[in-house]
Amino acid sequence: MHFFKKKTKNMELPTAEKLRPDDSFKHIAFIMDGNGRWATEQGMPREYGHSAGAKTMKKVCTYCCDIGFKACTVYAFSTENWKRPEKEVNAIIKILENYMDEIIRDYKSYHNHFKFIGDLSVLPPELLEKVRKVESLNLEYDQVFNIAFNYGGRSELANAFNRLASKGVTHASEDDISAEMYTAHCGDPDMIVRTGGDMRISNFLLWQAAYAELYFTDKFWPDLTEDDVDEIIRVFYSRKRRYGGI
Ligand code: FPP
Repeated sequence: MHFFKKKTKNMELPTAEKLRPDDSFKHIAFIMDGNGRWATEQGMPREYGHSAGAKTMKKVCTYCCDIGFKACTVYAFSTENWKRPEKEVNAIIKILENYMDEIIRDYKSYHNHFKFIGDLSVLPPELLEKVRKVESLNLEYDQVFNIAFNYGGRSELANAFNRLASKGVTHASEDDISAEMYTAHCGDPDMIVRTGGDMRISNFLLWQAAYAELYFTDKFWPDLTEDDVDEIIRVFYSRKRRYGGI
């Protein structure tokens, strides 16, 4: 059951007593869209929007882990994002590298561990080493922050089928396929949030999204706040999940 903790004497509920995720809402995922438009609106280059987006990602996802989500997943770079201008792609890779350095330095201030999902074989070896180092930190914490990088849902599924075939599985069950997904460690997202106004999934967690609640907002990703997360939680608990039943 989800719950409001006991009210204090004063009527305004302080942050610590807002609606919090429980066992029916373990995993939240974000399609972080709108960085480019956010920057353009301010007369700044798109890369500036990604830097702002990275700050929002740290703030929002740290908040999600701290308030009790078992898993928080972000779509940081898709298999299609390579089509972007080289300058923009390089800026995102640089942001990733700086972020890895920061976690390696400050990991004790996080109360979650980190996992990358996607095909990381394309990363420069030195960066890949930092990513693997980050994944080895904070493993004593249950909460996981998943970063989808060079991720594509169709490619994830194709890889899963190929792996099953190479194991000699000719009749895969749904559980067999779920076990081959990058998210096998944390289960499917209960809600997928997309910022930036578009209403599509864009090849994100295709298999895992089967029963996810969807939440769309016009806000650009850099503008998302902890209060928005509280509102998203409220909306989640206002939905009726029937999983095909009545
Ligand atoms: C989509 O917005 C955003 C991306 C493709 C990149 C998301 C990256 C970050 C938030 C920061 C990087 C984080 C890591 C871990 C590397 P868009 O550029 O499509 O925005 P637009 O729709 O307004 O053009």
